[in-house]
Formats: sequence, structure tokens, C-alpha cells
Amino acid sequence: MDNLIYEKISNHVGVLKINRPKYLNSLNIKTLNEINMFLDEIKKDNDLYVLIITGEGDKAFVAGADIKEMKDMNSIEAMEFSKFGNKVFKKIENLEKVVIGAVNGYCLGGGMELALSCDIRIGSNNSKFGQPEVSLGIIPGFGATQRLLNVIGIGKAKELIFIGDMIDSKEALNIGLLNKIVDNPVEEAINISNKIIQKGPIAIKQAKKSVNFSYNKNLALDYEVECFANCFNTEDQKEGMEAFTQKRKAEFENR
Ligand code: HXC
Repeated sequence: MDNLIYEKISNHVGVLKINRPKYLNSLNIKTLNEINMFLDEIKKDNDLYVLIITGEGDKAFVAGADIKEMKDMNSIEAMEFSKFGNKVFKKIENLEKVVIGAVNGYCLGGGMELALSCDIRIGSNNSKFGQPEVSLGIIPGFGATQRLLNVIGIGKAKELIFIGDMIDSKEALNIGLLNKIVDNPVEEAINISNKIIQKGPIAIKQAKKSVNFSYNKNLALDYEVECFANCFNTEDQKEGMEAFTQKRKAEFENR
């Protein structure tokens, strides 16, 4: 695995780091593939009760899907990409282990969607959250149009998705996106893990299954994939992503 670092820190707790710090741990297809294979492997580790997911370095958890890779996708490729990410994040959401997101730095777009597929989210004072996709002429495509409103309510979800601004960790805590703010999110995630692993392991698994049961039924992820793909092959998507690579603000025309 080139873009992931995994360490089992005790019999029951493992820490997965997304490891592309040069690109703020943004998720390209290779990284998503690695996460997918990694999940299939750790699923078999019956001793592992808690998985902590974090980003390498202190600048970013994950700054979104890889814009440079998405830039030239057509709508069919975009649909496949969105479908695949959703498949991977659904595996995280329904993994028979508790998953804790330890959010350091930027947690944007697909990064926020990764955090939303975790069971518990711990942030630090330097974490920044947002769904900036509309600035790129696209929409979230790894589940945020569905999961975000379940976590923070439809009003705030629409604000974040339609305006695209970042919020700080205090606001994220206030709206229920974060469970806690601490100096060291990984350390706190380990503290929480050490409490969880002392409880009945079967009870924890059954609790997760039960909490997710009706929640999962209401996630219209396929519809999000369709709407995401509709944004590709448009001038807005081309301008939005071109502007990012040229480090300028996108200028969208009236439509
Ligand atoms: C590709 C990225 C990236 C991304 C950062 N980089 N985010 N590359 N995809 N999402 C790269 C930059 O291009 C740069 O590479 C390097 O990482 C460092 O980033 P800088 O921009 O120089 O850092 P800084 O000026 O500190 O700005 C940090 C930032 C900014 C505010 C987080 O990088 C940013 O706005 N990133 C994009 C965030 C975003 O829009 N995310 C949503 C993506 S869409 P170089 O080569 O220039 O050094 C998405 C959709 C999900 O996630 C659904 C898909 C189906």
C-alpha cells in the first residue's frame, strides 16, 4: 500500500493513515482502491474492534477527492468514480468494528464524506470542514448530500453544500458534526477506543447494526451518483476544475 499506513497499536485497536501529505491526502483512484482492499483485509481480523482513521501530517485529514484526476473525466467516468467511492465508504459505515475519524487539519469534500462514514468524529482546533464542490462546478459525490443532513440537519447541510464555505471546529462541534475537540485527535480516539474495547464486543456490533439499519435504508446514494455525474461534461465543471489547477477563482457564466 503506497498511500496508506496501517498500525495495529494493540490487539483490538488499529490506526489507518491516509498518506499523500504532499497533496493534502486527497483521494485519487489508487488511494480509494487501497482503502477498499484494506477494508476487505481487516474485516477478517476478528480481534480488531476499533479502527481509527486519520490523515498523515498536521495539515490535512483529507482535502477531498483528487481534483486533478477528476478534471478530465467525462460523466460516465465520473459516475464510476462516485459509485466506487460510495461503495468504499459504505463498507466503512457498515464495518463490524467501530470506526473513529481523528480529524486533523482540512476535512473537505470527499474528506468530509469519509469522516461522515465514520461512527465518531474527533477534531482539533486546527480542523476545518466544508463541502466546497460547488466552487468547482460539481456537487458532493461520496455521500454528503445524504449523510450530512442526517448528521447536522437539512438546514445546515444545505448551507454547507450550497455556499461551499469552510467552518471551524467550534462550529462543527456546535452543529453536531464533531463529537469532541481536543489537542490531539488520534490520542483521544485511542482513549475512546480503550473504553469501547472493554464493553461486550457482540453488544457493540449489534448496536452498530441496529443504529445503521433504518439509517442505511434512507440513503439515496444512487441518486447522488446520478446528479454528480450530470455535472461532468458541463462548462461549469471544466471551468471550476481548471481554475483550481491554475490557482484562481472560477468564473461561471450565467446559465
Ligand atoms: C488535488 C489537491 C487537493 C485536491 C490540495 N491539493 N487539495 N490536489 N485534489 N482536492 C494539492 C494542491 O493542488 C497542491 O499541489 C498541494 O495539494 C497543496 O495544496 P495548496 O492548495 O497549495 O495548499 P493551501 O494553499 O494551504 O490550500 C489548502 C486548501 C486547498 C484550501 C485545502 O488546497 C484547496 O482548496 N484544496 C481543494 C479542496 C477542495 O475543493 N476539495 C473538494 C474536492 S471535490 P501543488 O502541486 O500545487 O503543490 C471532492 C468531490 C468528492 O472532494 C466526490 C467525488 C465523487
